[in-house]
Amino acid sequence: MPGSGPAQRTAQRTAQRTSTALKLHTIICSTRPGRVGPSVARWFDDFVREHGKFDGLLVDLVDFNLPLLDEPQLPIMHSYQHAHTKAWSTSVSAADAYVFVCPEYNYGPTPVLVNALDCLYREWNYKPCGFVSYGGMAGGVRGVQVSKLQVTTVKMMPMAEGVGIPMVAQMIDDRRVFTPNDLITKAAARMLDELHRWAQALKPMRG
Ligand SMILES: Cc1cc2nc3c(=O)[nH]c(=O)nc-3n(C[C@H](O)[C@H](O)[C@H](O)COP(=O)(O)O)c2cc1C
Repeated sequence: MPGSGPAQRTAQRTAQRTSTALKLHTIICSTRPGRVGPSVARWFDDFVREHGKFDGLLVDLVDFNLPLLDEPQLPIMHSYQHAHTKAWSTSVSAADAYVFVCPEYNYGPTPVLVNALDCLYREWNYKPCGFVSYGGMAGGVRGVQVSKLQVTTVKMMPMAEGVGIPMVAQMIDDRRVFTPNDLITKAAARMLDELHRWAQALKPMRG
């Protein structure tokens, strides 16, 4: 793979894992300075390990620094010119399932998530995904409903079970550590159980 920046290193680390468990990428879907996404995602990535069914990896979109889609060929052609797209493709290819950790921006998904989904096609196909969303009163779920339309178009299967975290700022301390309540951890366990069933079921479809 060309290049040696953070995106390439993340993609290489991703591709080099040897566990036989199904691989789950927890993807941080906000990139702005001061974001709370990493606090929520670090908790969830630890929870994946505690849950025990998946080989989990935390992936941060900020490391890939994807520009707005700039490939001349359509993503469905799987013919990429740019190192950033190749690195993103390597990372996404390595997973059997995804959890998007995402806020809603103006009742919709973050533009970086929309763009990261748009940049690839086959890499997403026939894989399940879940959402850990957060925000104000609505816990980011309006953005998730919009994302569900987009993920099905790249042939992913979104889970009905999800984790919505209202008033997220109140659950993050001054060291930027997120502490969930019981409702949140129960919802996370339910979503991961379901995601694992779907990940097993869809794997044979990918040949
Ligand atoms: C552009 C923008 C739009 C936002 N729109 C919403 C919204 O529609 N609903 C909501 O609950 N919070 C909204 N918020 C507040 C976010 O929930 C809050 O800032 C959260 O921390 C954003 O996630 P991040 O810190 O990981 O970027 C918005 C924030 C930004 C920056």
